[in-house]
Amino acid sequence: MSDFEEKVREALASPQNQGELADADAVGTVGSPDCGDMLRMWLKFTEKDGKRVIDRASFQSFGCQTAIAVASMATELLKGKTAEEARELSANELTGDLGPLPPMKIHCGQLVEGALKNALDQTSTPAPATAPVGNTLSQEMQKPAGKIRIVPID
Ligand code: FES
Repeated sequence: MSDFEEKVREALASPQNQGELADADAVGTVGSPDCGDMLRMWLKFTEKDGKRVIDRASFQSFGCQTAIAVASMATELLKGKTAEEARELSANELTGDLGPLPPMKIHCGQLVEGALKNALDQTSTPAPATAPVGNTLSQEMQKPAGKIRIVPID
């Protein structure tokens, strides 16, 4: 098993921040047209030292193990970051201790990056979040098509 696979396995043994944040300020949902996986991320902001920073982040995934491991790392990394700082993080930076993603797994990190950016987009506009805060991804999936905002991953 490669070093990367071992780290993914460790992250999956106790994924952090899994599940919805009922009082979230923003939620972002993306789907990958390539593999069909989906990921939703919730963000909760707080005021710290005069700045608006991410207090908590959480995720739900219908995705591969790598996407879950990256989302677990990313939701920890995001704590204390402003929306601008969070937006600058690339898929490879969001992996934290997992290190760089192997080429075959880059889109898994992009799924996490896409969900984060989708959520951040909703914090910069006064419009209500497209995906209702509080519904689980599985509840949304059971609704008729068109209820979930799908952001294609490049
Ligand atoms: Fe689809 Fe990893 S294989 S996100």
